[in-house]
Amino acid sequence: MARKIGVMGMGNVGATVAHIIVAQGLADTLVLFDEIEKKVTADTLDFQDAASLLPTHTEIINGQIEDMKDCDVIISAIGQIKKLNQSNTVERTAELKYNALSIKTISEKLKTSGFNGILIVITNPNDVIADLYQKYSGLSKEKIFGTGTYLDTSRMKRHVGKALNVDPRSIQGYVLGEHGNSQFTAWSTVRIMGRPFTEIAQEKQIDLNKLDQDTRFGGGQVFVGKGYTNYAIATAATNLMQIVLSDARSEVICSHYNKKLDTYISSPAIIGRHGIEATFDLPLTTTEIDQFEKSAAIIKASTKDYA
Ligand SMILES: NC(=O)c1ccc[n+]([C@@H]2O[C@H](COP(=O)([O-])OP(=O)(O)OC[C@H]3O[C@@H](n4cnc5c(N)ncnc54)[C@H](O)[C@@H]3O)[C@@H](O)[C@H]2O)c1
Repeated sequence: MARKIGVMGMGNVGATVAHIIVAQGLADTLVLFDEIEKKVTADTLDFQDAASLLPTHTEIINGQIEDMKDCDVIISAIGQIKKLNQSNTVERTAELKYNALSIKTISEKLKTSGFNGILIVITNPNDVIADLYQKYSGLSKEKIFGTGTYLDTSRMKRHVGKALNVDPRSIQGYVLGEHGNSQFTAWSTVRIMGRPFTEIAQEKQIDLNKLDQDTRFGGGQVFVGKGYTNYAIATAATNLMQIVLSDARSEVICSHYNKKLDTYISSPAIIGRHGIEATFDLPLTTTEIDQFEKSAAIIKASTKDYA
């Protein structure tokens, strides 16, 4: 069956997402949309120029939201990263006012179009925007999720892997909560070589607080260097997209609706063709549960002004 994907927002992140999709042949049809029309026209031509050089065929459409109505997956990379540059902070809520307004209009168009696929949200502040997309578009909660702390979890694996001199892919575990400053590494979930990482850290005198801080501010480090981040987040989003397209039913961390806390927030879920296929509670420590609930309260406080 033909795979049709939409990318909304063709800035640093959206363009990288589109490039991964085209270069890896992950879609049969790719619809690109941005309010800066000449940028999308140029990107479309640029991709079309590569067509004869690629091993797979992708039809690229320079489109509108309406052209995405029958997409299997739409990825939201709408934003205005300059707001973050101007705010002199790496606080992701700096974009909230602008992005909430943008996605309200977009959600209305999606609703009118009858779109009923999966919406993967990259746009920041991620948990708040995923929640607002759901409220504004009326799509079911299972069909909308954010990349959330999938990227932060990968950053944590980088730091733990570096501390032990092992491939980050060998590390299991999660960074939970907000994709923002209240996130935390749930050390009780982190394991390697069949053992809890906390035990190994104690033996090797590895400072867990430092690793957690390095993870939390990892995005900031990249941001300071080039004014945006793109490769890791685009890889995270396209991974999630592939899990949906192949109906893999994988356990992955992402920002999804938490019924008990009544907010979008990151914890692992089972993802497949219908989006969030199943949710579950991790066996966390009481301190971690407290951190998770505090993080949820921070997200909810930001959401309520726009809901
Ligand atoms: N979730 C994460 O881990 C993560 C990581 C990196 C970036 N981000 C977020 O992704 C978003 C994009 O980042 P970027 O660096 O590509 O930003 P950018 O400013 O380079 O690109 C955003 C694009 O969205 C377009 N846009 C904005 N409002 C629009 C609207 N209403 N209609 C159509 N197009 C619109 C802009 O024209 C621009 O091309 C930001 O919100 C950023 O904070 C999230």
